[in-house]
Amino acid sequence: MARAGSIVKKASKASDSKLKAVVDMIIEDVRPSKKEIEGAIAVSNSISSRIKKLMPKGAELVIVGSMARGTQVKGSYDVDMFLLYPRSFDEKKMENGTIEIAKKIIDRKKGETFTVKYAQHPYARINVNGMNADIVPAYKIGNALERGTAVDRTPLHNAFILSHLTERQKDEVRVLKAFLKAHRIYGAEVSIEGFSGYLCELLIHTYGSFEALLRSVASARLPWVLDPKESAMVEPHSDAAAALVKKFSKEIVVIDPTDSNRNVAAALSLESFSRFILASRMLLDRPTKDAFYGEGYSDAYPERALSALIKSLDCELYTLEFGLADIANDIKWQQLKRLDRSIRILMKKSGFEPLIALQDMEDSIGVIAYLVNRHYNGTRAIEGPSVFLKGAAEKFADAHSKSYKYLDGERIMALEKPEHSNVHSLLESIRRSNEISKLSHVRVKEAKLFFGTEMPEECARLVHRSFVKKTTLRI
Ligand code: UTP
Ligand code: MN
Repeated sequence: MARAGSIVKKASKASDSKLKAVVDMIIEDVRPSKKEIEGAIAVSNSISSRIKKLMPKGAELVIVGSMARGTQVKGSYDVDMFLLYPRSFDEKKMENGTIEIAKKIIDRKKGETFTVKYAQHPYARINVNGMNADIVPAYKIGNALERGTAVDRTPLHNAFILSHLTERQKDEVRVLKAFLKAHRIYGAEVSIEGFSGYLCELLIHTYGSFEALLRSVASARLPWVLDPKESAMVEPHSDAAAALVKKFSKEIVVIDPTDSNRNVAAALSLESFSRFILASRMLLDRPTKDAFYGEGYSDAYPERALSALIKSLDCELYTLEFGLADIANDIKWQQLKRLDRSIRILMKKSGFEPLIALQDMEDSIGVIAYLVNRHYNGTRAIEGPSVFLKGAAEKFADAHSKSYKYLDGERIMALEKPEHSNVHSLLESIRRSNEISKLSHVRVKEAKLFFGTEMPEECARLVHRSFVKKTTLRI
């Protein structure tokens, strides 16, 4: 890693404060009771002994994740079990074998269930005694260079966290997770684009405490580059920070201490990080338990709420509803977001920039909705190239042969009425077009378009939920 000559700032220490008292109270809420831990251990022991009877020679079963690290939040975690195979094992055989074992060990008569899941690679999720347990196949490796699958590093993460976090810091990880959950930015899944459990652990390790982390984040600057191995923040304006930003093509970088080629914050969006910044400032400003949890929101009477919203902003609401295939949530979300981006590009091209774009999904239905200005016919001035770029202006004029053209300084401009002079006609044509139906898991062909609040209750609930989630900023 190109770190030579860079200035590395040691993370600051927390001070005694009102916030500390709040953190102490929250710890009591988020630390699982002895009884709960014993129950989870009993479940994991029972599953372990069943797996051990069936696993092949040379394989090893380990418990990883927050339960093994003591960073789980009361009542909301899973058992993460890894079945580790020698590096020489065939990948397909290891995947299928693990899933077969998981399928065999459940007792359906006791209500135990089994499902196959896919993240970067397949694994099994079983439910035993009301608890979810993920059984994940991986290669046993000594360092990240030997990595074969996407999850092989996990036992290395375990070792790093277990040897670097104190008991107090484990509790502070729980507090951080609870705080991020309250702001809906906990989890690296595509629907959240937030902080993974491992990222939370590394943040507490780097800063030493929840409070020190908040103080730093409250005045964070981009690029935000952390090196947990050194418990340090890489100076934002240093060459080292610039090199890392380039290496990971991202302005938020947290180097995995077990693998310098991995950015643990890869899934964190700038929006989720920004939410964390606002939330940190808010809690430092008002260190109370109420402020920590914030207030929930009601999604009762979504139609009434949407109707009031449209009225108060004096704008229009358009909603597209899609059927979704029965596949991994992350893939569905990726496609829904991609679809939304393509639609917005088309809207922008037609001169209709939505005021806000909303997306949400549940089970087999997905919605994308736009609030747009009421009086808008899309007629606009399109900015062309400078006349100093020989040929470019002429090419632009050709492409806009039917419009009125004029010069704005050196730039050629074209005055045009779009093909669709209202949002409804544009969205209707998108709904019917084949262009977007390339996204195989969003059933664009069966899409329905609704205007205003005239839509099924379920659909209105999702649109409203997305609006509230997006606009609930606690500042
Ligand atoms: P989990 O998502 O269960 O996270 O992944 P967690 O740390 O146990 O957090 P909670 O408390 O359940 O919410 C288990 C472990 O698998 C690795 C990480 O090391 C993580 O701690 N992992 C998970 C990855 O390496 N990559 C992933 O995409 C997901
Ligand atoms: Mn877990």
